[in-house]
Amino acid sequence: MDLTIKWHELINKAWNDRKSLQESNEFDSWRVFHGYTEGAKGVVIEKFGMMAIVEYKDDIRDDLAVIKDALLQHFPFTLILAKGNQSIRIPLKDRMFALHGDLSCAPAFAQEYGVNYSLLPDSMHNCGLYLDARPVRKWLANNSSGRRVLNLFSFTGSLGVAALKGGAKEAVHLDKSKDLLPRIQASYEKNGLDYGTRSFIKGDIYKHLPKAIKNKQKFDGIILDPPPKVYKSPYSEHQPKGQDFSRLVNMCSKLLNTKGWLICLFHSFDATWEFLDSHIIESSSNTLKVTEHFTSECDFPDENNDRKLRVSIFEKI
Ligand SMILES: C[S@@+](CC[C@H](N)C(=O)[O-])C[C@H]1O[C@@H](n2cnc3c(N)ncnc32)[C@H](O)[C@@H]1O
Repeated sequence: MDLTIKWHELINKAWNDRKSLQESNEFDSWRVFHGYTEGAKGVVIEKFGMMAIVEYKDDIRDDLAVIKDALLQHFPFTLILAKGNQSIRIPLKDRMFALHGDLSCAPAFAQEYGVNYSLLPDSMHNCGLYLDARPVRKWLANNSSGRRVLNLFSFTGSLGVAALKGGAKEAVHLDKSKDLLPRIQASYEKNGLDYGTRSFIKGDIYKHLPKAIKNKQKFDGIILDPPPKVYKSPYSEHQPKGQDFSRLVNMCSKLLNTKGWLICLFHSFDATWEFLDSHIIESSSNTLKVTEHFTSECDFPDENNDRKLRVSIFEKI
């Protein structure tokens, strides 16, 4: 056990710092412990309903029992899952297991602002809902009424589902992973949304966006949330850098109606917000202007805003 980490103290403080989230009653999921700034760099703990997931990049297996006790002192979790990152070179079965309770008690959905989002708790990667994007889902629910929305890099479709629950007339999700369809469909069904045959396009963005431009497709809102590192596509000659906003925004701006919005999620920490905004505007050939800014909330504490998830909203001029 790493005796230098005082888990009870750290988790106690983190729990108390999130009182506003616990009292809000508007969602059942948040980040309980953000190790990067709260005292244990390689560890994050997230709550989804009655389940907690302890994710670790450092080998803290000897500390897990103490972490479990500290969590149970604050909340009657029915399941606490330990998920070790693959960077810890041990077999999968020794990295991921239930510390408390049984996987059969895992929740199938998270609830947030009256919307249900499907979860796959024992997935080796994110279980389906990125908690730092909670304010993005809230924004979408408030700004999508009557709009046709394109959700790029959709993953489980949570951002598009938020837009639909906010009155979007259509959401089109695009992602290259074939495993996502049943997870998107589960969220539609649970929220009483109609799943149309064209709701999900499984494919590469660098293949489908040029095609959509050629077919003169138009949207009133585009969600652009590329992963921190976009890989080279077999459908494009160019070598993407980071989130590849220059190429992606260039294409998105051609698909947006006047007064349509583009929402960009910035995951890299190596540039100022100002720089990122002007990069987006330039990539759109000055057809966009910034209208709003926000970051992740108090469950991702960081004194430096440039190290939080930064979100910018642009409008097509
Ligand atoms: C970080 S997740 C996006 C999170 C999502 N916006 C959300 O809020 O849940 C990144 C997704 O991008 C997809 N992806 C990566 N490269 C892609 C590409 N070239 N074309 C289509 N999808 C891609 C991956 O399959 C993955 O699901």
